[in-house]
Amino acid sequence: MTSHVIRLLSPMEAQDRRADLVELLVDAVESGASVNFVWPMTRAKAEAWWEGALASHARGERLIFSAEVAGKLDGTVQLILAPQENQFFRADLAKMLVHRRARCQGLGTRLMQAAEAEARRIGRTLLTLDTKARSAGERLYARLGWTKVGEIPDFSASADNLSRRPASFFYKML
Ligand SMILES: CC(C)(COP(=O)(O)OP(=O)(O)OC[C@H]1O[C@@H](n2cnc3c(N)ncnc32)[C@H](O)[C@@H]1OP(=O)(O)O)[C@@H](O)C(=O)NCCC(=O)NCCS
Repeated sequence: MTSHVIRLLSPMEAQDRRADLVELLVDAVESGASVNFVWPMTRAKAEAWWEGALASHARGERLIFSAEVAGKLDGTVQLILAPQENQFFRADLAKMLVHRRARCQGLGTRLMQAAEAEARRIGRTLLTLDTKARSAGERLYARLGWTKVGEIPDFSASADNLSRRPASFFYKML
């Protein structure tokens, strides 16, 4: 296991890591990940996205987790709390990002475990997510006991914007 520390960030701690969070998102899109952007990926696009996400974090609408070592942010994931009154027990797992320099060392697994433990603690016992079909993310979620509901074809454009890709939808009851 790596010596990375996995933890839940306060809104102020997340703000302090804004530049690293932006870099993680840029790195993911440049690596071809399907995380809602297409090439060319720019810092400006990532900054605008994080601006909204950090404001939402400050309002208590989501939780942001980090994986860090020696002051370096190598991974993150979020739990977006379902706002619907009748889904007070559900959250979406989103923006699972591990920097290319730190992949395949178990960080994705540990971030998921931390998010699931916190979700259970706060009573969000139904988690949902979508991910690119047949991706590293899909393998990760299946390995951790998530149930795949199915796929929607042509759900999003590939990062290079040359084709459309299916997405897989998963849930986990905690
Ligand atoms: C998906 C993603 C988060 C996985 O992160 P990760 O930190 O590499 O995840 P893990 O290390 O836990 O698992 C990845 C692989 O490494 C393997 N692994 C874990 N620890 C390992 C170790 N110590 N030595 C060798 N391999 C290891 C796992 O078995 C797994 O293998 P698999 O790809 O064949 O399934 C990462 O690839 C990523 O950020 N991709 C881009 C963004 C993205 O697509 N996010 C999902 C959007 S929903």
